[in-house]
Amino acid sequence: MNPLLIRAFLFDLDGVVVFTDRYHEMGWRALAEAEGWDFPPKLAHSLRGVSRTDSVDIILAHNGLQKTAEEKEEFAARKNAIYLDAIRNINGTDVVPGVLDFIKKARAAGIQTALCSASKNAMTVLEALGISNLFDTVVTGADIHRSKPDPEIFLLGASRLGIPPFHCMVFEDAVSGIEAALRAGMKCVGIGQAEQLPNAPEVLPDFVSVDLDSLLETGRLHRPEAEPWGITQTALRERRSSYWESIFALSNGIIGVRGSLEETAWPGHSYPATFVNGVFGRKPYEHLWKLPGFAEGLEMMLNVADWTRVDLEVDGVKFAPDATGIGGHRRRLDFEKGCLDREFEWAPGGGVAKVRVRTKRLVSMDRRHCAALAYEVEALADCEVKLTASTIIPAGHWHLPGDPVLVKEISEKDGCDALLLEPADGPHAVALAASTRFEGPGARKRTAEARSVSHEATVRLQAGQKCRLEKNVAILSTVDRSLDGLLGEAVKLAAIDAAAGFSVLAEELAAWWKAWWPFHDIRIEGNPADQQAIRFNLFQLRQSFPCHPKLSIGANFLTGDKYCGHVFWDTEMYISPPALYSEPEIVRPLLDYRYHLLDKARARARAVGNRGALYSWNTISGEECATVFEASTAEYHLVTAVAWAIRRYVEQTGDKAWLWSHGAEILFETARFLENLGGYVPLRDGKFCINAVCGPDEYACGVNNNCYTNVMAQWHLRYAAKIFDRMRGEAPEQFQALCARCGFSAEERDGWQKAGDAMYIPFREDLGIHAQDDGFLNLEPVDMNRIPMHTDIREKMHPLKLWRTQVCKQADTVLLLFVHGDQFTKEVKEADYNFYEPRTNHGSSLSACIHTIIAAELGRMEEAYQFFHLSACMDINDFKSNVAGGLHSACMGGTWMAVVNGFGGMRDYDRGLEFAPRLPKAWKECSFHIRWRGAGIAVTMMPDKTRYVLCDGDSVDFLHHGKPVHLSRGEHPEETL
Ligand code: BGC
Repeated sequence: MNPLLIRAFLFDLDGVVVFTDRYHEMGWRALAEAEGWDFPPKLAHSLRGVSRTDSVDIILAHNGLQKTAEEKEEFAARKNAIYLDAIRNINGTDVVPGVLDFIKKARAAGIQTALCSASKNAMTVLEALGISNLFDTVVTGADIHRSKPDPEIFLLGASRLGIPPFHCMVFEDAVSGIEAALRAGMKCVGIGQAEQLPNAPEVLPDFVSVDLDSLLETGRLHRPEAEPWGITQTALRERRSSYWESIFALSNGIIGVRGSLEETAWPGHSYPATFVNGVFGRKPYEHLWKLPGFAEGLEMMLNVADWTRVDLEVDGVKFAPDATGIGGHRRRLDFEKGCLDREFEWAPGGGVAKVRVRTKRLVSMDRRHCAALAYEVEALADCEVKLTASTIIPAGHWHLPGDPVLVKEISEKDGCDALLLEPADGPHAVALAASTRFEGPGARKRTAEARSVSHEATVRLQAGQKCRLEKNVAILSTVDRSLDGLLGEAVKLAAIDAAAGFSVLAEELAAWWKAWWPFHDIRIEGNPADQQAIRFNLFQLRQSFPCHPKLSIGANFLTGDKYCGHVFWDTEMYISPPALYSEPEIVRPLLDYRYHLLDKARARARAVGNRGALYSWNTISGEECATVFEASTAEYHLVTAVAWAIRRYVEQTGDKAWLWSHGAEILFETARFLENLGGYVPLRDGKFCINAVCGPDEYACGVNNNCYTNVMAQWHLRYAAKIFDRMRGEAPEQFQALCARCGFSAEERDGWQKAGDAMYIPFREDLGIHAQDDGFLNLEPVDMNRIPMHTDIREKMHPLKLWRTQVCKQADTVLLLFVHGDQFTKEVKEADYNFYEPRTNHGSSLSACIHTIIAAELGRMEEAYQFFHLSACMDINDFKSNVAGGLHSACMGGTWMAVVNGFGGMRDYDRGLEFAPRLPKAWKECSFHIRWRGAGIAVTMMPDKTRYVLCDGDSVDFLHHGKPVHLSRGEHPEETL
């Protein structure tokens, strides 16, 4: 795995490496003067990065002139002659500050460099300066057919270097060049003034103090500063606003509030949103040719309201995040206390600051309906302050037609704003009651409109005086309540929370996290960025558990709707494990959710032509929403993931009552499905084969015998048979009732056992590796250096081409080596890993964590650590440039696994609990806790030893690197590696 996100730098010439623009401008101006044309500075600026011929057209158009082709050519040639004459004088003073050192450092770090300039004279300039050796390739205007903003020039540069565009970064000083870079699918840094480069994701004035490490690792100029218990934003930038909204999202698993700024932010860039788990809108799909079992429509988690809006006006000037005079702006997500704090000073119009603003926001973990904010303004000089707090029901939607949220009622009840909201098309209504309170004197005004309600307070403050606004909302939905009285109840709850006041809500929340952290923290000494990342992951994970039997956890939590709020196998295989080994009771509702969807899963199995139950690959209500059925519905391994989580939950808690009342039915119906899905194939020696599937690797569709799926299905079928036998003996009445209701029989049970025992497991004896499926090894290998890493290449390649390509999206066979690791020898694991990892582009965020686990098991600590870092910092560093759409929830659960199962070497196979700690070199110490079947164990890994402490239970037995350890209360054995 190449850990560098950026592998090539592509430079424009003029204004980026050298300031030739003044020589160009000189040439055009001389020509314009000679011809008597108008040539204002703005026109001169617009010619940057534009080819000579296009420049002639622009100048003529500006002057309202039409000329023949020959005349134009003659103008271009005259300008060029003047220019060439002038650049003979070019020298070091024309070089952009810091650029040469920067290029040299980048090259020393292994980065390839290209110069991509529309100027046909680029080589002459480089040679005049003696710097042509700094570039691996030079693309000039002579090599291309289309000017920027066409991406041709950069794509050619990248292809000459042999680096996929995704791994290239362009440095540009012109709007058209930036557009070209973005159209080429490259990262881009603007060089110059931010105001003049509005489309640049990031802007640098020059190259004098650039954090090269950050650029190479993240593709961005800055990483958030490493701190142990929080994450802080200091710069306010329009283009990153949506990233911060996801990072700063607060939730309790029922309500999720994105971390948008309170004031009117940047339309088109920021996405203020509040999501309510289980509440969605629908959009029917229009299939031109609708085949049996095709999904009917999309379910889209709804952004029900923006209730966090507070607009600030000081002395009649309205605050905006890009206003002048903002000082010390800082927002910080506090993992210890669970809230989002903000502070800044503001001098309206510039000068000396007149106000200091502090805000705090929270979503309550105890009061599951409650979210709140406080907004405080302190006058630093006498001034008039106006605050307007609004609740706005968003109009339109990025993906659904019309206004997907209808306002059924907007009224005032018991001092609260009461809003009843209904999806235009969707089953669940939402009641939102908001209490808004201003402290201090001054005039108040309430305004209600069709889709918003606002409260305004205007107050004159003297220096040192403060005014404060508190607002809390109670949000309820018909997911778990009837519509009758819903709004009344929300109003009642909002009034109770308002009476408690913001500080009590904040104290409660802090107390909640204070009680939670000690057992669940992962402490890392030696690398502050890793410490921050792991705590951020743990915080976001925990605040997202809904603990409700009809709700689950989506692929972006409730932090964004890129994945539409859909639930995938992520929940069972990646998000649940941290909780299964620390608070398994919060996993049970997630399994209840699957039970709740069982009838829909039965219908789904019928729809695809099978018996039993098939869960929908991505869904909220149980209906399949995936349209690319071959890489979704065909991922039948989802049902094995649900069974796997059931097994873990039951083993951890011993909750047989739940197994008999809920779990068994899921296990049997899904086993019925798997047995019905596969068949005994004569030419495979009568083995049980499962054909036409998609394993975890979504680049390989419609394959036969995906190894992961078959091994999981084998386990599943045998486990279902085992539970069938147990239930018959231990809960005979429930067993009889279940069999009578669903038609399970001993004969069917034997069918599961037989299919499991006869399962075909693809293994190539000659190569000593598992075959990912029947076809994968027969595909043509590809040059992985030409495949972009860490990105879903389905977006770049036609599926037919992709299916012929021997590239894995994510851990597939490698995942098997972890989940069923007790079935394989170390040699097979080595061989499988050696074969599959180099063919994996880690296009899914679910990949790196699993690779950490196996790399660590194989003792490849450096590689394991690189994968860990990628997984842990996936969101903070925004490696995939998609955090704006929401956090990667499976990756966060996987990051816990990377530490505990990876570096801690924790395994929980049939032979019992095992640890095999291996501390990465980057860390001095790492400690975590796990709960295993009632025993609470604290593990502290050090470079040469590991300390185990039993903090709950009487004793526990486990293996430490294969050596038996019996741990009793009060003992602190230290085991050496
Ligand atoms: C991954 C799936 C995952 C989904 C949602 C896809 O990119 O390949 O395994 O379930 O994202 O996270």
